[in-house]
Amino acid sequence: MGWRSQSCTDACVAVFDYDAIVLGAGAAGLMCAAVAGQRGRRVLLLDHADEVGKKILISGGGRCNFTNIYTRPETYISANPHFAKSALARYAPADFIALVERHGIAYHEKTLGQLFCDGSAKQVVAMLLDECARGGVDVRCGQPVRQVTHADGRFAVRFGDLDFAAPNLVIATGGPSIPKMGASGFAYDLARQFGLKVVEPRPALVPLTLGGDDVLFRELSGVATPVEARAGKAAFREAALFTHKGLSGPAILQVSSYWRHGEPVTIDFLPDAAPGWLLGAKRARPRATLASALALPDRLAQTLADRLALPGELGAQTDRKLADAEARLKRWTFRPNGTEGFAKAEVTAGGISTANLSSQTMMAKCVPGLYAVGEAVDVTGWLGGYNFQWAWASGHAAGQAL
Ligand code: FDA
Repeated sequence: MGWRSQSCTDACVAVFDYDAIVLGAGAAGLMCAAVAGQRGRRVLLLDHADEVGKKILISGGGRCNFTNIYTRPETYISANPHFAKSALARYAPADFIALVERHGIAYHEKTLGQLFCDGSAKQVVAMLLDECARGGVDVRCGQPVRQVTHADGRFAVRFGDLDFAAPNLVIATGGPSIPKMGASGFAYDLARQFGLKVVEPRPALVPLTLGGDDVLFRELSGVATPVEARAGKAAFREAALFTHKGLSGPAILQVSSYWRHGEPVTIDFLPDAAPGWLLGAKRARPRATLASALALPDRLAQTLADRLALPGELGAQTDRKLADAEARLKRWTFRPNGTEGFAKAEVTAGGISTANLSSQTMMAKCVPGLYAVGEAVDVTGWLGGYNFQWAWASGHAAGQAL
């Protein structure tokens, strides 16, 4: 770091100079700063929170699902589905796993390629801070970023009462999901200030709310079952959970990222059942009721049977009625009336438009020296470690270019 004095109309203030200022010490900002610092760049990493990596600390129930070994471009949502390819190819899950192993952090695969720390998410933050220290990164927290300006090829940042300047600025302040943790739309304001477009941000990986005809299902709060959930062309086979507000669980969080207001979400309650199974059940157990024939939690089976209005024994139902019931159970249609919003969303979909950024370096095409990484960008991963992998990969891409 160097410093110089800058003439002002009313005072003379010290301006501290760096090669790059990274705004936001979350997953992407920490990675970006460490990589650039280790390449010999003088890097300043700033965050308004009192500590770095807060979302890492609470992620994965405190164990941080830090990557997914099945990461591929199709596991991300963006207005440009090709944008993430370059960064993801150049910094893969294997690269982050190698880093984790170099730091002696024990981990395990929980399910579906999701890697978690055996111990604590604190280990991941400590690892990233250690990598920053190796790169001589100056990390400062707990002050507001009051102003960012750009003149003569230099970005000037007022952080608390101090002024910093650098020819490179990285926006790594994430999205507005979980505002009570200090998340904000700051990245979008800054992007717009520099003429970049923002794809309408919306809550993603978020529970859906039910009203109208579906409101009865809220009485099943706490009931979970494996399903295949669909929204648009996206389909996920995982658990769904009924809540006192509507629907949650991994299958629903996954489809929520694809769901748009007014569209239905369909659920296959019996994804493993062979076609014609209900007629088979009628032949095998004619005295059984529909509810008892459904291999589902009792309360859910009863609610579905009531809604299908097929009381009494299966043997008393026509084959046609049973075929219709089976078809409805395969494609049960819910019409969510909304989501639980940014307050409960694990991530934000949308964000700084990829059309304005280089997919190689994450630098803004029209503002040399300005970069955007991580969740702030219009790239959103599936549930299960994909979002951190994007944060590492995009942070790494920018860190190598700075
Ligand atoms: P991130 O939000 O991590 O960091 C942004 C930083 O910028 C923060 O430190 C913030 O304080 C700072 N900042 C914001 N506004 C600022 C301002 N105005 N001035 C200065 N600093 C500012 N993903 C995953 O892959 N596996 C998982 O297990 C989980 N689990 C999980 C649990 C919960 C509860 C949530 C909310 C989210 C997850 N995620 C996840 C998602 C994951 O946390 C998220 O995608 C990454 O943290 C995004 O990394 P970024 O660095 O882009 O933003």
